[in-house]
Amino acid sequence: MALLELENVTKRFGGLTAVDHVSLELEHGQFVGIVGPNGSGKTTLFNVISGVFFPEEGRILFEGQDITGMPPYKRAPLGIGRTFQIPRPFGSATVRENIAVGAMFGTLGHKTSVDESLEIADAIIARVGLEAHKDKAAGTLTPVEKKLTEIARALAMKPKLLLMDEAMAGMHPSDIDQMVALIKQIAREEQIAVVAMVEHIMRAVVGMAEKVIVLHQGAKLVDAPTKEALEDPRVVEVYLGHPPEE
Ligand SMILES: Nc1ncnc2c1ncn2[C@@H]1O[C@H](COP(=O)(O)OP(=O)(O)OP(=O)(O)O)[C@@H](O)[C@H]1O
Ligand SMILES: [Mg+2]
Repeated sequence: MALLELENVTKRFGGLTAVDHVSLELEHGQFVGIVGPNGSGKTTLFNVISGVFFPEEGRILFEGQDITGMPPYKRAPLGIGRTFQIPRPFGSATVRENIAVGAMFGTLGHKTSVDESLEIADAIIARVGLEAHKDKAAGTLTPVEKKLTEIARALAMKPKLLLMDEAMAGMHPSDIDQMVALIKQIAREEQIAVVAMVEHIMRAVVGMAEKVIVLHQGAKLVDAPTKEALEDPRVVEVYLGHPPEE
């Protein structure tokens, strides 16, 4: 059984079709890249998978269960964790507290006490290298530190499916390589079944993804192993004849 299955999912905003009859399957153990030009529907697709928006058409199955109309707070305990393209931490809470919130609302859910959630947060803080910032108010972090906190918060949810929306934007190339290696390692250890990432940074996509789904104007253009997908002439064309951002 696929971990996640989308059947003909469509999400409209008024007259605009942001996600256009997208069908896809994510298998356990996959690292998947989702790419496409600005406005091609990547974030909306993640919002539909995580339950921020409900689709007008189609079905979403998670481990075979129909979650199409399920609110986000019920999806997170099933194992759908995500980062937000624009981080919005609880600004006055500390980094550590923000990450602990992930543990409280993730797959461990009601089973974790506040103290246990803080312990989970501390373990992840050590893994991703946020120790120096853990007691700072999250609102005072730099944009890159906020992105890292987002990743840590999502990991604290102990998800089966980790959706990362441009989580590495703004990071230095050498930090991206490190981050990619770290997420792969954590995903394996924590038995995160699928990491799906939206990225404009091809370095991160090539380093992480085994397969790539390319969106264009809300529709799925290509769904293939990474190298094949990125060399597909249709993909080169939607990026206006230029390879995607280095
Ligand atoms: N809440 C919303 N209300 C109305 N239109 C929206 C909303 N969210 C997204 N859109 C529109 O839907 C389309 C897809 O947007 P989306 O943010 O999913 O693209 P994206 O691929 O994530 O782009 P980017 O690479 O810039 O992050 C765009 O035309 C966008 O303007
Ligand atoms: Mg986006």
